[in-house]
Amino acid sequence: MNDVSRAAALLRAGELVAFPTETVYGLGADARNAQAIARIFAAKGRPADHPLIVHLPAAEHLDRWAVDIPEAAHRLAAAFWPGPLTLILKRQPDVLDAITGGQDTVGLRVPNHPLALQLLREFGGAHGGGLAAPSANRFGHVSPTTAAHVREELGDAVALILDGGPCAVGIESTILDLSAGEPRILRPGMLDAAAIGRVLGLVPAFGGKPDAPRVSGSLEAHYAPRTSLQLVAAAELAATARRTLAAGRRVAVLSSLPLGFDHENLVWRPAGADPAQFAHDLYARLRELDALACDLILVATPPLDDAWRAVADRLRRAAAGAK
Ligand code: TXA
Ligand code: MG
Repeated sequence: MNDVSRAAALLRAGELVAFPTETVYGLGADARNAQAIARIFAAKGRPADHPLIVHLPAAEHLDRWAVDIPEAAHRLAAAFWPGPLTLILKRQPDVLDAITGGQDTVGLRVPNHPLALQLLREFGGAHGGGLAAPSANRFGHVSPTTAAHVREELGDAVALILDGGPCAVGIESTILDLSAGEPRILRPGMLDAAAIGRVLGLVPAFGGKPDAPRVSGSLEAHYAPRTSLQLVAAAELAATARRTLAAGRRVAVLSSLPLGFDHENLVWRPAGADPAQFAHDLYARLRELDALACDLILVATPPLDDAWRAVADRLRRAAAGAK
């Protein structure tokens, strides 16, 4: 039996399997099995009212999970699935409350990774089954973008980790709410508002309505390394690092260009110069820098530009969440 078949069999038996997607690694469980879903929450240490995304092998069985599907959902699915877009739709009544957090909506996506698609087809293909899969990290930690990260985060809590190499996108999918009239982006991702706007014919707004479902990705303290992280204007980076070093503290710097000086208590790591490369490397770099046990991680504030929005969002949360 190959790994994917073994993974599908484990999932059918109610076990947890971590698998690669194009965004980050997911911690998968049978979305129809309440006990398996409970294991996800236990393994992650995640509060029970945080809803999970259901991953499907294709858009064709969308109606097993959602009702009142707007035409826009079909157009977006045709344009971007498989891909880094999660659609929030009205749920079918039989979708487990543990998946939806008790809300009347469900998050659905078809991920774009050959191993994930193989697994989803083998697990749910003909029957419209799906896998609930949050990012495969402990609650509040940085999402994993390699199989080794998953092992560090969850170790024995998962029956099998499918290794598909480093994730191509590197940060979580764009979440688009289509359940409440006007489309809204609840979580920015590398699939940006302009691309979605071209398909919808209008550019979606950002942020949920005040009474909208809670998105754990909308908590400030999320995606956080343990080390304090501070965002600093690129032009101020060297001066800030010098001041911190002068105070006897150890500093790690993540920026596209080196600072131009060396110091025994200074570590520099390159950040991608464009948003796609930056996103691709971000979580792996944060993990590396976190492991150095410095006193402070300094990161250059990304440009105020739509293309950088998702990266800026994750950095802001990392800065808010780090102790
Ligand atoms: O890229 C991704 O989306 C990754 C990969 C594994 O697919 N998954 C991921 O899952 O980031 P997770 O659980 O770490 O984040 C899912 C986010 C949460 O913030 C959750 O609150 C939100 O999606 N979400 C899920 N269902 C929702 C719903 N019905 N309404 C509003 N937000 C929802
Ligand atoms: Mg997550």
